[in-house]
Amino acid sequence: MLSWAVMLKLPGLIDIHVHLRDPGQTEKEDFFTGTCAAIAGGFTTVIDMPNNVTPVTSLKTLKRKIEIAKEKTVCDIGFYAGSLGDNLDELMKMEPYVFGLKLYLNRTTGNYIIDKDKLKDIYRAWKSDKPILLHAESDVVEDSIGVAKAMGKKLHICHIASKFELSTIMRAKDKGFNVTCGVTPHHFFLTIDDVRKLGAFAMMKPPVEEGAIDFLWNNLDYIDVVESDHAPHTKEEKLSRNPTFGVPNLDTTLPLLLTAVSEGRLTLERLKELCFYNPKKIFNIKTDENTYVEVDEEEIFVINKKMLYTKCGWSPYEGREMRGKVKRVFYRGRKVFEDGRLFVGRGDGVVDTGEK
Ligand code: DOR
Ligand code: ZN
Repeated sequence: MLSWAVMLKLPGLIDIHVHLRDPGQTEKEDFFTGTCAAIAGGFTTVIDMPNNVTPVTSLKTLKRKIEIAKEKTVCDIGFYAGSLGDNLDELMKMEPYVFGLKLYLNRTTGNYIIDKDKLKDIYRAWKSDKPILLHAESDVVEDSIGVAKAMGKKLHICHIASKFELSTIMRAKDKGFNVTCGVTPHHFFLTIDDVRKLGAFAMMKPPVEEGAIDFLWNNLDYIDVVESDHAPHTKEEKLSRNPTFGVPNLDTTLPLLLTAVSEGRLTLERLKELCFYNPKKIFNIKTDENTYVEVDEEEIFVINKKMLYTKCGWSPYEGREMRGKVKRVFYRGRKVFEDGRLFVGRGDGVVDTGEK
């Protein structure tokens, strides 16, 4: 009997948190391979973090990054500005070309941690309604929300990973404070047992906290976005004596979420809110109505490194069975992906500078 699957149509999804490593660490990823992984994974807009080898803390470094991206991207891409507390004059120069300002308050890749004493000065210098994104772990979340609230700033707390962090945000939201937050696929889908088995391949910041996974799922109503924190590192680095922090995600976020839908842990409506409507609204991202993704909700497959487009070539989810596969992707009206194959050219994508 002839039968064919009914395809589910989703808008081209938005990932507001990726590290594509370009320029500076293109042995891990670059704008071409990273955006190929995005398209193959159903994401047609990504926003790239500023913790490059040369951090994006000046208009000059930002403009250079934008020029490089124009040559290589295959989907929509935007950027964030960064600060180490010593570039207050540059912040509003970068502002017209970015979707927000990213600050690191805890140690992670690049070590671009800022002194908490400088937070107020940076908040003050960011005279913009575009969000300030924070990497703030455990008790740092509470302090930084307090300061932002007092100064009337729009905050987005990245990669909520612990019960304490989410409870803090829940309290702030219940009191009516304008704060949003994101959770990564690894904090939604890697258990502490997975982390023990994967070793360095599941080392990331913030780390997976024992028992937090259920708390995150049970309080999904408080979570605004799924942000991948796609952070590719080479296998050699992961196997070294000093492994780097971070895991790749762009190829696998959507299949993981679709699998959760098939298990009844998430609705499709909520998936669209987390990966499209909310990121679009919070970060004021323009999208194109002829950009969409066709998904076979029923298709079962096993994640295999051969199917990945990320340059780092590995995934913490290798060997996992998924239910729900990206079949085709249309980008600005053109078919760019079908059945595992990409039809893209370097630079076919659009750099969105966030200019109004
Ligand atoms: O695990 C992480 N890796 N967490 C971060 O905050 C940064 C990222 C990276 O850039 O590798
Ligand atoms: Zn990150």
